[in-house]
Amino acid sequence: MSVGMRKATARAHPNLALVKYWGKRDEGLVLPHQSSLSLTLAPLAVTAVVELGTGEDEVSINGARAVGAERERVLSLIRRVQAGRPELKGAKVESSGDFPVAAGLASSAAAFAALAVAARAAAGDPADPRAASILARMGSGSASRSVQGGFCAWHRGDRPDGTDSYAEQLFPPGHWPEVRMVAVVVAREEKDVKSRDGMRHTVATSPFYQAWVEDAEQEVARAVDAIRRRDLEGLGSIAERNAWRMHATALAADPPLCYLKPKTLEVIQAVGRLRAQGVPAWFTLDAGPNPVVLTDEKSEPTVTALCRGLGADPVVPCTPGGDAVMV
Ligand code: PMV
Repeated sequence: MSVGMRKATARAHPNLALVKYWGKRDEGLVLPHQSSLSLTLAPLAVTAVVELGTGEDEVSINGARAVGAERERVLSLIRRVQAGRPELKGAKVESSGDFPVAAGLASSAAAFAALAVAARAAAGDPADPRAASILARMGSGSASRSVQGGFCAWHRGDRPDGTDSYAEQLFPPGHWPEVRMVAVVVAREEKDVKSRDGMRHTVATSPFYQAWVEDAEQEVARAVDAIRRRDLEGLGSIAERNAWRMHATALAADPPLCYLKPKTLEVIQAVGRLRAQGVPAWFTLDAGPNPVVLTDEKSEPTVTALCRGLGADPVVPCTPGGDAVMV
């Protein structure tokens, strides 16, 4: 293999879950208790450059040398690609995002998806969205859903080895180009409890967790049906309810886990009032204080202005994004 073939660059968008993943049945392989559903978001993206067979490992993220757990997480994904191929020993990885400072969107999803696609290409493996999704999943669960664009479902799978736990595109971005998701940043500091720890704690101590898991597959099916019909009200209602339920499982953990800040609630309530006035807008919320508002092209400026008026900064309107691509 020529040296040139061992270097590859890929670019991936983040995604936002409309039906959320919250809880692992296998921590090592990152296997979820439930399926989830998301929309890939443009224009935000992360670019990863991977060179294999360099002898020494070197990882940089946004221009700074990565150390500790962050570096280890990247290298453990790379090692899965290098396994059994001594000629690929040593990796130089450079990852950089074009996100506005603390956009409040899961940049790790875009980062691990870009990393998985680039690493496989650098190793000379053929383009294979399913294999890339499985690899990305092991870096960060939600990253499994950023390998492809549009609306993607991550199937929980049943096999203990995780070979049937991957995300796939159900609808391309062109199925519903008018959909908008507005990322609303109300707090820029790092969240107190990372999703990895928060979901582990919820699974272990929340009496509501079982009910959450039991409804998950039906919830994905209901959301898929709304997307198929391009029913924004149907999808918005499901997304809002699903976010509240995820947070309810965390709030019922012992000790309780609350990701909402006063400003989060202020935005959520303002979105509800806007809707009462006839503007199609529904919030969703990951494991942090920054809501994302689902709306359409026509109402996006109204939603954006409302959130800016409440002091949120930045407020980033996003459109349905495409597949991770080689650069
Ligand atoms: O992929 P992780 O470990 O960052 O977990 C993501 C969990 C949520 O963002 C809260 C929900 C989801 O499905 O993306």
